[in-house]
Amino acid sequence: MVNLEEQLRAELDRIREQGLYRQTIPARHEGGGRIRVGGADFLNLASNDYLGLACDPDLLAEFYARLDPAALPGDFGPGSTASRLMTGNHGLYQRLEEGLAGMYSRPRALVFNSGYHCNIGILPALAGRQDLVLADKLCHASLIDGMRLCRARVIRYPHLDYDRLQALLEEHRPRHRQVFLVTESIFSMDGDLADLRRLVRLKEAWQAVLYVDEAHAVGTRGSRGLGLAGEQGVVADIDLLVGTFGKAWGGQGAWLLCRQTVADYLVNTARSLIFTTALPPVSLAWLCFLLPRIQRLERQRRHLRDLAARLRRELGRQGLATRGESNIVPVMIGDAARAVATAEALRRHGFWVNAVRPPTVPAGTARLRISLTAAMDWQQLAPLPGLIASILRGG
Ligand SMILES: Cc1ncc(COP(=O)(O)O)c(C=O)c1O
Repeated sequence: MVNLEEQLRAELDRIREQGLYRQTIPARHEGGGRIRVGGADFLNLASNDYLGLACDPDLLAEFYARLDPAALPGDFGPGSTASRLMTGNHGLYQRLEEGLAGMYSRPRALVFNSGYHCNIGILPALAGRQDLVLADKLCHASLIDGMRLCRARVIRYPHLDYDRLQALLEEHRPRHRQVFLVTESIFSMDGDLADLRRLVRLKEAWQAVLYVDEAHAVGTRGSRGLGLAGEQGVVADIDLLVGTFGKAWGGQGAWLLCRQTVADYLVNTARSLIFTTALPPVSLAWLCFLLPRIQRLERQRRHLRDLAARLRRELGRQGLATRGESNIVPVMIGDAARAVATAEALRRHGFWVNAVRPPTVPAGTARLRISLTAAMDWQQLAPLPGLIASILRGG
């Protein structure tokens, strides 16, 4: 028998020795892409507020100016008091879901409390023992947890290797009732892109169900911010399209676009939708407020794309390896402790950058994950490539 406290202390020591120790740090967002931590100011290169909406003072002022004291408890309250299936289903849910379905020209949108809730709810509800899940190896932890919770067999194919996926379909499709193809569209740690058109062809050829998590693409990609699916012209071909409000939308919650029958089935069976308190009305009000506005932000989307292209170019000029082709720019370091030391050195120069280490990414591929937002300008970023190169040279 081992005392729990001693067991956990020993485990934490091991985590520290590997350079993998994590902790939560209080932070205050200042707008303009800046963050305040421990009394100091930083350029925030770890934010998912990709369009800068969560901290836009003018937008927030416009939103809060609508607060009518008479409507406070009903439409702007901080708590919804119950789950969606009890009495927590505020009328704003309907407005938001109808707005999303209209925006994407899809039959139905279903709002969950977060992307995590969405992804741990969908597969356990839809995929049973006779089914198969084929998922990209680099899918986000929330998708992996959804796979762990479901009863279907799960096989993960090598990242973006669609020849392998095709071979798996040839081998396994005939023996399964349904096959779910699961992918992110922009991968969160590599910033690279799925070939959604190829996935649509595969799902059609094999009568599979295509499930795409657009967490990092909604708002930032495609005309009207309809994501990579919009950019690649396949929105209507994706059976289960997930987007989160927690990133470019600067809010809280997530949605699934799907057919009416799927939505009805999930309302009856998705445990992460049923057994949790609904989103606060004030959050729903913010999302309804943003819905028409986010579609008009083409200038911000262009600016973000230009910033990312320029940063990748300048990092390359310094001999630094990057991956992907989005506003998530990983700078590959390799060793976890070296990545952490580089991130710490960058903080001493006013750049808040996170080192991403195993188990979030595979061993030996620790990296600096730089995420850019439309609230920044090039002048703020210009010193960064030279600085990273000089820190890595030991300068
Ligand atoms: C690909 C992906 N899906 C889902 C999520 C979870 O979304 P949320 O933060 O809304 O829970 C994340 C968050 O990092 C993500 O990167």
